Amino acid sequence: MNILLLGSGGREHALAWKIAQSPKLSTLYIAPGNPGTAKVGTNLPIAADNFPALKTAVIENKIDLVVVGPEDPLVKGVVNFFADDAELKHITVVGPDKVGAQLEGSKDFSKQFMFRHNIPTAGYLSVTAENIAEGIDFLKSLKAPYVLKADGLAAGKGVLILNDLDETISELRSMLDGKFGAASKTVVIEEFLDGIECSVFVITDGKNYKILPEAKDYKRIGEGDKGLNTGGMGAVSPVPFANAEFMQKVEERIIKPTVDGLNSEGIVYKGFIFFGLIKVNGEPYTIEYNARMGDPETEVVMLRIKSDFVELLEGVAEGNLNEKTIEFDGRSAVTVVLVSGGYPEEFEKGKIITGFEQVEGSIAFHAGTSPKDGNIVTNGGRVLAVSSYGSSKDEALALSFANAQKLQYEGKYFRRDIGFDL
Ligand code: AMP
Ligand code: GLY
Repeated sequence: MNILLLGSGGREHALAWKIAQSPKLSTLYIAPGNPGTAKVGTNLPIAADNFPALKTAVIENKIDLVVVGPEDPLVKGVVNFFADDAELKHITVVGPDKVGAQLEGSKDFSKQFMFRHNIPTAGYLSVTAENIAEGIDFLKSLKAPYVLKADGLAAGKGVLILNDLDETISELRSMLDGKFGAASKTVVIEEFLDGIECSVFVITDGKNYKILPEAKDYKRIGEGDKGLNTGGMGAVSPVPFANAEFMQKVEERIIKPTVDGLNSEGIVYKGFIFFGLIKVNGEPYTIEYNARMGDPETEVVMLRIKSDFVELLEGVAEGNLNEKTIEFDGRSAVTVVLVSGGYPEEFEKGKIITGFEQVEGSIAFHAGTSPKDGNIVTNGGRVLAVSSYGSSKDEALALSFANAQKLQYEGKYFRRDIGFDL
């Protein structure tokens, strides 16, 4: 089987690393990939949202299956592009179509979906310029802190959590005025949920699903979860509080109604569903859906899948995921993300990275790196995700920490406390 993976981050290197281990694989291509994916497959210099160029590459390289890493091509309709093309329609693209991707692409769509299917989530009101007065009344009926969410994709910056009512009202106005462009023409006001979060992933063929290992990510830049939000500074799997009793509630109240709901609404969803969950007094609530795997969660989730991942992808293509088995690795996995100095604010790129050959016992997944004059240089805020196994979370973290110190570049920063709250 020839597989094409779309994307270029740490998530895609981790997916590529796992796919490349399958005996079912002939060749793995990654578009555009990064220097890490180049070690386990063949990079194609094509942007993940350049659909016509992807078509040419898919035909030339006799691709059987496409796996979509990031949300952007999904929201732009890569699945529809393949389905509507006579030469491509026999190829399965693992990812939802444009409508299914709205679970991530529109907070208003996802909240309406959850309410239609009685999926536990925070109370909310969607507001536009037309019903702002109603929005202010709703805010006044809530207790602080207040949660405002831009409806559309806003590069992870569209959620504001504020303590002061007047400030919230003024932020609501500025969001509706275009603070996040078209993404905040609609704003979702939510009730605040107080609890501990984790990420649960499923792969679905549209009817059947398999639950993948759960994970917890750490989004703040500073140790102790302080400071600005980032794309993710590290992740841990398993998550001890996501025990069997909790996961059973998650499956019954959230996962099953979501997959059945998509099905009953005629939404063709073959791909990954990422459930951003929060545990409040022992009960699971859905904070958000994503239409893809998480980053950096994938950098631990892939380590914890023992079985052949390509079999699961095949199950999606054939619609028989129910006949497949998934086996987890019982060990703990931790990933520590090395970032560029200054991130998530201004940072410089192009710093030479050294020390790869000294890494021992961890996998350094590439996130924001690029090749330059025979070297590998930094090319993003998140640079590398150092992932390790351990008999405990602490053992895995210690190994990632030791290897994180061996990898060198100017301005390197990472958190040493991933998993500190578990
Ligand atoms: P989202 O993009 O919807 O996942 O929101 C980003 C982050 O904001 C989440 O990971 C939570 O930490 C926080 N958050 C979002 N919605 C709520 C809520 N209703 N109550 C408490 N925290 C929330
Ligand atoms: N780690 C959170 C995300 O991928 O959205």
